[in-house]
Amino acid sequence: MSEQPDQQPTSTVNGTSGVYRNGNGSNSRHQSQPEQQPSAPQANKFSPRSAQIVGWGYHVPEKVITNFDLEQIVDTQDEWIRTRTGIEERHVAAAPSETSASLGIRAARAALESADVAPSKVDLIICATSSPEHIFPSTASIIQDGLGASNAGAFDLSAACSGFVYGLSMARGHILAGDAEYVLVVGAETLSRIVDWTDRGTCVLFGDGAGAVLVAASDVPGGITASVLGSDGSGADLLTVPAGGSAMPASLETVSSGGHYIKMDGTAVFRFATRVMAEATRQVLGKAGLSVDDVDLVIPHQANVRIIQNSVLKQLKIPEEKVFVNLQKYGNTSTASIPIALCEAIEEGRIHPGDNLVFVGFGAGLTWAACAIKWSVPVSKPEETWWRNTQRQATYQAAAARSMWKRAIRRVYSQFPEESRWGGGRKEGNEAG
Ligand code: UT7
Repeated sequence: MSEQPDQQPTSTVNGTSGVYRNGNGSNSRHQSQPEQQPSAPQANKFSPRSAQIVGWGYHVPEKVITNFDLEQIVDTQDEWIRTRTGIEERHVAAAPSETSASLGIRAARAALESADVAPSKVDLIICATSSPEHIFPSTASIIQDGLGASNAGAFDLSAACSGFVYGLSMARGHILAGDAEYVLVVGAETLSRIVDWTDRGTCVLFGDGAGAVLVAASDVPGGITASVLGSDGSGADLLTVPAGGSAMPASLETVSSGGHYIKMDGTAVFRFATRVMAEATRQVLGKAGLSVDDVDLVIPHQANVRIIQNSVLKQLKIPEEKVFVNLQKYGNTSTASIPIALCEAIEEGRIHPGDNLVFVGFGAGLTWAACAIKWSVPVSKPEETWWRNTQRQATYQAAAARSMWKRAIRRVYSQFPEESRWGGGRKEGNEAG
């Protein structure tokens, strides 16, 4: 989508031109960007509205399983896993309290903290996940409650490993349409719970974790400038969890045959991924009016280093130093892989204001997605103070107390008979109506 410089002035976050404002009502740290990004166009009140990633965070479980650990579980070798995938170790949710939502809450809090935006400011939470807590309710709603994001809508997005990039595209759409000022996009996974630990073709590949970004409305040009979304459902059977949905409801038989575990035709997915990663990157760059040479950093879905080499490096001829890879530490964390990689790229100083980034992913569905991003905000974190930290902890505790209180009220309320709950007035009113 091309932006029109002469369009009518658009609303800005809290009416502040050129910046968004933080949850405390003061101008955010991102306001100081002209100094840090001299080449960026100066924003004014006639600038078009843009969707900027202004906060980022991730969280992975503590427990690490190395390739050598896997040698004790299935017939595999560290050498095979490293040379065929690039993976060396992965984090696994060992504690029952570590779920997709709890990892997602930790990542989302970190994203809000890095932007210095209060949870109450968030308008929408999109949780992309391939391992949701339940069929319903959505993992996003549980994250919303855990954050105390009391003004946010929430929904899960099912596009498998492409889900996070799909979510960014949705966030951009909501913001550009003027429907939201702040959208949290979370990728959260506990794939270890749906992996067959006796299947060496899949169990060596996946890992658990969560990553999140806060996307904000701004009138600084740039941010998420283009997206490409794709799907080919004829390949639905190539990567699937066959049982547990409405097509094959859970039963003793589905459980005993392992129908609730991930099944994959790895070679077919590999071929598909190698093709679409290159194509989607080309397409999104075309939409953003950029060439391959303009790209400063590609953050691809972290599934297999050979897919990245065969697509981004060989087909697009993007040099290795412009491609971020961290799958050796985490394995394939599905929807979480790109936001975790983004956070680590920032930590390692690989992203600077003014950079052109591409996020590109593929996954079950089959699906693929890419986003072009003109990074337009400083990458420093706000200064951590005792007071800020105390305020935050108080907010989280208040959110937990509010949630418990609501549950308790519902429980008490449900003890009363129907008539006494609504009172005679309502009943009569209904009858009258
Ligand atoms: O987010 C999307 C998720 N999915 C993916 O990204 C998967 C994409 N596909 C892949 O990454 C690769 O296809 C795999 C890593 C899954 C497999 O690599 P490959 O080079 O395609 O291996 P292969 O399936 O062709 O298997 C080659 C050999 C086979 O043995 P034989 O038949 O040649 O004797 C396999 O049985 O390697 C064997 N093998 C293993 N050996 C040791 C398969 N898995 C393992 C293993 N350890 N874990």
